[in-house]
Amino acid sequence: MGGGFPREGRGGSPGPTLPSRHWACPWRCYIKQRCLSPMLCCCRRRVPTRSVPPAEPRRASAARQAFSLSTCKMLSLDPLGLEWDCPLGSKDLEEEEGPRVEGSGLPPPGYFPGSWSQDVGLDCKGSPEGAEARAWTVYYYSLLQSCLQQAGLPETQDRSQAPRTGCPGAEVTLCILGSPSTFLSVLLEGGVQSPGNMLLCLSPAWLTKVPAPGQPGEAALLVSKAVSFHPGGLTFLDDFVPARRVTYFLAGLGLGPGQGREAAELARDLTCPTGASAELARLLEDRLLTRRLLAQQGGVAVPATLAFTYKLPALLQGRDASPGLRLVELSGKEGQETLVKDEVGAFLHSEALGDALQVAIKLSSWRWRGRQVLRLHPRAEVGTVADTVLALLEKLEEEESVLVEAVCPPARLSFPGSPQPGPELAVRICAVVCRTQGDRPLLSKVVCAVGRGDHPLRHQSSLPRTLEVALAQCGLGEAAQVAVVRRSVKAAAEAALAAVLALEAELSVEQRGGRQARTDFLGVDFALTVAGGALTPVALELNGGLCLEACGALEGLWASPRSGPVAEEAAAAAPLVETMLRRSARCLMEGKQLLVIGGGGFSKKFVWEAARDYGLKLHLVESDPNHFASQLVQTFIHFDVTEHRRDEDNARLLAELVRARGLQLDGCFSYWDDCLVLTALLCQELGLPCSSPAAMRLAKQKSHTQLHLLCRQGPPWPSPSLHAVPCCPLESEADVERAVHQVPLPGVMKLEFGAGAVGVRLVEDAPQCHEHFSRIARDLQGEADHPGIGLGWGNAMLLMEFIDGTEHDVDLVLFGGRLLAAFVSDNGPTRLPGFTETAACMPTGLAPEQEAQLVQAAFRCCLGCGLLDGVFNVELKLTGAGPRLIEINPRMGGFYLRDWILELYGVDLLLAAAMVACGLRPALPTHPRARGHLVGVMCLVSQHLQVLNSTASQEALQALHDRGLLRFNLFLSSEEALVPSEYEEPYCSVACAGSSLAEARLRLLGLCQGLGIDGPHYPVAHFLSHFK
Ligand SMILES: Nc1ncnc2c1ncn2[C@@H]1O[C@H](COP(=O)(O)OP(=O)(O)O)[C@@H](O)[C@H]1O
Ligand SMILES: [Mg+2]
Repeated sequence: MGGGFPREGRGGSPGPTLPSRHWACPWRCYIKQRCLSPMLCCCRRRVPTRSVPPAEPRRASAARQAFSLSTCKMLSLDPLGLEWDCPLGSKDLEEEEGPRVEGSGLPPPGYFPGSWSQDVGLDCKGSPEGAEARAWTVYYYSLLQSCLQQAGLPETQDRSQAPRTGCPGAEVTLCILGSPSTFLSVLLEGGVQSPGNMLLCLSPAWLTKVPAPGQPGEAALLVSKAVSFHPGGLTFLDDFVPARRVTYFLAGLGLGPGQGREAAELARDLTCPTGASAELARLLEDRLLTRRLLAQQGGVAVPATLAFTYKLPALLQGRDASPGLRLVELSGKEGQETLVKDEVGAFLHSEALGDALQVAIKLSSWRWRGRQVLRLHPRAEVGTVADTVLALLEKLEEEESVLVEAVCPPARLSFPGSPQPGPELAVRICAVVCRTQGDRPLLSKVVCAVGRGDHPLRHQSSLPRTLEVALAQCGLGEAAQVAVVRRSVKAAAEAALAAVLALEAELSVEQRGGRQARTDFLGVDFALTVAGGALTPVALELNGGLCLEACGALEGLWASPRSGPVAEEAAAAAPLVETMLRRSARCLMEGKQLLVIGGGGFSKKFVWEAARDYGLKLHLVESDPNHFASQLVQTFIHFDVTEHRRDEDNARLLAELVRARGLQLDGCFSYWDDCLVLTALLCQELGLPCSSPAAMRLAKQKSHTQLHLLCRQGPPWPSPSLHAVPCCPLESEADVERAVHQVPLPGVMKLEFGAGAVGVRLVEDAPQCHEHFSRIARDLQGEADHPGIGLGWGNAMLLMEFIDGTEHDVDLVLFGGRLLAAFVSDNGPTRLPGFTETAACMPTGLAPEQEAQLVQAAFRCCLGCGLLDGVFNVELKLTGAGPRLIEINPRMGGFYLRDWILELYGVDLLLAAAMVACGLRPALPTHPRARGHLVGVMCLVSQHLQVLNSTASQEALQALHDRGLLRFNLFLSSEEALVPSEYEEPYCSVACAGSSLAEARLRLLGLCQGLGIDGPHYPVAHFLSHFK
């Protein structure tokens, strides 16, 4: 939706007019009670303001007063009326009310003041435009330049003479076909989040639909020409040869005659994700449907409404009535007067109308969108209301309806006794809400309009402002009260999108306009009224494009200079662009063939489900012939990969196997510690993208990582050596003897190739060092002693200086040596002497500068080892002297990390890793924002065996997870968990979410106490005490 999709037929023949008996004022005003404000009724279209006759002297009747105050205010909330609603300057403000008609028309001439070059290559080669279409393209180009100019941004540079070649099929291509002013905020945000990949098409002729092989009935969308957006608001007019394949399409809104229809056609049945379709827009613009939906499913307050229709819209049939919404189905056009009068009478006298003194009469009709006048009547005038309804019913077609709705009295915000000077002010609240990861709605921005109560307040005739400023102007300055209003607006707007998404989920592909058509954002217009003694936002309209445009205008206010707290707020379009990127990533990866080396343990069982969801075709190489994933993949290759001293030979053998089987691979990757070096070697054999085997080897062997980085002294500075920690490799008792004199004690002894903290120990003196070395030499000799922790490389150890400080994980995504994303989490105190992980929280509670230090340190260490492409997990401690490296895991973070990052940031490290493996730059937002906080603790069989069999059983924890009360990540299967081991790995993680760290921590503590996870030997409060 957004801005009324598609907007066309402006210059057509006039629509039907109402019979003259309904005209009560000489200017065709339907408001019988003389028009106090000519702006409120149809008169405003016909009569220039100056020629309006002076209003009648006011009478002090209650009804009259109510009209002048509340009616005007509530009217202000309604985006009816062509000239206000339409993003284009309408060439004909004298237009009649009536249904939209398809037709032709030229854009308004010479509209935008400015001095940009007119000599730009707007023609798309091979796709000539007619004179009229061309005029619209020029018009939109000028509108774009005007918008850029007003935002203080440079003029678009024409690069179309030198076509861009790009990386066909390998790049994110976010394409918007629509009015530049509506989408400016999205375009600019897209330019920041995915530079050069956010494209604006100013004409449908710049796009082509081509049949999609393997997807009957669907088409791919190609873009040959567009304005591309880059950071800093830089824009280029680009030609693409070959044309770029669109990975996300947001179809044109507010386009000129003919173009709207073409945009709708382009958006239909695409293989790529689409954020709008004519079909969905039509549903969202059906007032009756959406009102019913919001009231019923969303629990959103809507005005009390009486609706008349000949035939209920199909989607409303069979649904239960909702309170405050009365539906009357009429049997035909004739002989309905009595029924209508009775229904209107009963409605106007009913309690559902509350304190309303006025009613508004509207049409719910796609045909009439944006072409209606406002009709308002005092509640007492049953006869007039019924007459107006009857007159409108004559024009109705099946599935359209006439609505009579309460004009709920606006909240009087100024306190009695402290009236505001001047005219009473009206406020309109408009909220933009976006669909995020997991179909969750997220409010991204609230924009308000304030104006005189006696003038209509429309998106395009009012200045946008923040909720705080708007409410303060109306007399509500209390921060706490404003916060209450914001919370209720957030709840209502998110509930509205949830209701829309629930409706969409029930629709067929045809009803949605395509398999991939989803509503990714919504604008909701609210009035603020008092209900049950509380300030309540009442949802009036769904209005995507107009709300987005208002947000853009508000953000534009802060374009230059960017300062103050408002600039800190995320752009309204930020979550929308993140969704575009996430959907694009899926689009690019669908059907990709990937070889996975090592299925991994139970803790990685999410991989198979995710792969199916993403449409990845996985082929698995695995040592265990009975691995549970063997049935879940396209090809299962049983091959023993555990003997790492033979990794090179194995890589060659595997490459032959892959060739012999004729696998057409797009990539090869691993997330399992044990298989990373082999994977790099195999990728080299197969010519697939991966970090080099040498880099993987360096990272895999802990002492080599540190000693290598110690030598990397720069420039550039700061160099990786700053973060490396002195250590000694230990292969024999003699090495231990030497090491205790070189490494200051206490130190940490651990396995060179270890994982899961198995065999790690704090050693305080030389005897402890010798004892631990011989114990490991005895207990952990080979793979069979503890599978999957790297013993296939042997059980060599190292002694490392003990690093004091707080422990953190940094999960990085690198592509071509560029840092695309980084996620920092904090760890609680480990359990000594074995350093088992206890607690963690995300996002980090560190100050931004310290967080940045950690990210840079992790990034530098990866680069220093030659790890340039992939998803890496870097463990560091933050000491008084800065970050120190513990180890680099050259794979995605283990345990709960992938789950938490997906949950909090909507970024899937698994998909990112798969994309890098396919040589595709992962489609990630530049600065993803966490949607909350997670705090979790590990459960250990040794500590929690009893509760894990009772209060905190797997079933109980899963049930709590399913109810959203905790996040449960299980790492061991029940068979694995039952084997008692001295070298224990965590059994599961339980975490709680909260809007703040403190809230999440408190919740978790309560839960752990309730479930018995907390106890004297496992003091959860202590483990969480780091997280402040
Ligand atoms: N030098 C050190 N100083 C302090 N703590 C350390 C040091 N090395 C390891 N640790 C602790 O031991 C844990 C496990 O060590 P690590 O090197 O990450 O082994 P693994 O590969 O088994 O995870 C770390 O998370 C950290 O808490
Ligand atoms: Mg580790």
